[in-house]
Amino acid sequence: MTNWSDRHRREGHLISFVPTMGFLHEGHLSLMKEAKRLGDKLVISLFVNPTQFGPGEGFDAYPSDLDRDLKLAREIGVDVAFTPNKADFYPQGFDTFIDQEKLPNHLCGLSRSGHFRGVMTIVAKLFNVVNPAISVFGEKDFQQLAIIRRMVKDLNFHIRIIGHPTMREADGLAMSSRNSKLTPDQRITGLCLIKSMEKAQNRLKNKETNAATLIKGAAEFICSHPDTKIDYIKICDPDTLEDVAEIDRPVLMAMAVNVGTTRLIDNMILNEETNDAA
Ligand code: PAF
Repeated sequence: MTNWSDRHRREGHLISFVPTMGFLHEGHLSLMKEAKRLGDKLVISLFVNPTQFGPGEGFDAYPSDLDRDLKLAREIGVDVAFTPNKADFYPQGFDTFIDQEKLPNHLCGLSRSGHFRGVMTIVAKLFNVVNPAISVFGEKDFQQLAIIRRMVKDLNFHIRIIGHPTMREADGLAMSSRNSKLTPDQRITGLCLIKSMEKAQNRLKNKETNAATLIKGAAEFICSHPDTKIDYIKICDPDTLEDVAEIDRPVLMAMAVNVGTTRLIDNMILNEETNDAA
């Protein structure tokens, strides 16, 4: 992989990179299309990274279909689909991890201890091996994107990180490989995440600026659906991920909700227009 990248960089190509855990869906494909637009050689990785899953977080059950993924990658015009194997990437004696002090201590990081340590470590390893000029990440994993941006800045990776908007199904459900685990009823219930944020957005437009009130409303709405268990609902600063009490600027509303045994996440920037007005 590294030889390929070195050769193409020497020839003056701009390599763009989309890391994935495979089981590709339209959301991944939109990241790839954006990466292809920005660079002139496109590399993706397909690797279910064990170090970002805690015990009982479904590493063994993570869906995969390599043949289908490779077919989709070919159709998009991916130049290299990099598929490291676990033993090569985490050989015996592997003992170095990357961590951050602040951003992981919010949102998903609170209930998924060590998750972002695993994400940062694998992304740094992939960056070192693939050596891209550009890498594209989805805004659906807003916290992951913020953490990767921080890591790239702090550790002097010369890589431009691009955030790409969340892709949604026609009815609004955020695309995720995990959606394949939902039963038809749970699939409908899963819509309560985006609907609860749209309701909060509307209340905010009607001058309800208290974050706790909006969060309470969203929680009540989600709990009125069967088979749901809220992990968190937060309204926070999009840069620091610190809680915001009164909404007087654009804020991030983010949530994680278990629908049956499937953990869904989603987020939305509320009050975006205050930015436009400024
Ligand atoms: O977002 C993902 O799919 C994963 O966290 C990533 C970035 C591929 C690292 O394993």
